Amino acid sequence: MANKQIIMAPSLLSADFANLKSEVRDVEKAGAEWLHLDVMDGHFVPNLTIGPLVVDAIRPHTKMVLDCHLMVSKPEDWVEGFAKAGAHVITVHCEATHHLERLLKRIQELGCKAGVSLNPATPLASVEEVLDIVDLVLVMSVNPGFGGQKFIDSAIGKIERLAELRGSRKYLIEVDGGIGPSNIARVRKAGAEVFVAGSAVFGQKDRAAAIEGLRKAAEGAK
Ligand code: DX5
Ligand code: ZN
Repeated sequence: MANKQIIMAPSLLSADFANLKSEVRDVEKAGAEWLHLDVMDGHFVPNLTIGPLVVDAIRPHTKMVLDCHLMVSKPEDWVEGFAKAGAHVITVHCEATHHLERLLKRIQELGCKAGVSLNPATPLASVEEVLDIVDLVLVMSVNPGFGGQKFIDSAIGKIERLAELRGSRKYLIEVDGGIGPSNIARVRKAGAEVFVAGSAVFGQKDRAAAIEGLRKAAEGAK
């Protein structure tokens, strides 16, 4: 395996939005390294969620890496706002912008790590030309818009090919959607190292047990 680290990134989408501060602290205490923030605009995906204001409000309350997943049309209009709000990683969808290379470099100029994401039906070839510059590739294993959906199996092959293509490149492979104790080992084995989990962490009462269970299952991947 190219990269040995396992990074757990609970998705805030499944948190109790009336208690964000304590929810964020809870998963940090439970051992999460990253906090995944799903930004939806009602155009690129059929749902509306949070904006830079929420990222800015959360920032003083955690040391976790703030991993902002922009599911918005024209992400170029928003990256500066998220960088200023304190995002550490900003991921944009290749389907949402015409000038992907320029946008990824802009994110890096703003002092953030730049990620590119692709929907389940988008071929890997759509991001191949930017693999030399990205810090992270986020493979969607559900059609974005909602938590709690079923994992789409074709993501496994995509992750395997991304891991093969990596060679000496630096990008992390992140997977998002339908991740849980029953499939995390397969996803790990395919080559992913950042695991987004909404329902499987925030949806559980005992977040420490949930994260530990997922991590153990991922570590056990052969
Ligand atoms: C889906 C979001 C995901 C979502 C994952 O559009 O990008 O981050 O919160 O939720 P689960 O883990 O419940 O599939
Ligand atoms: Zn996400």
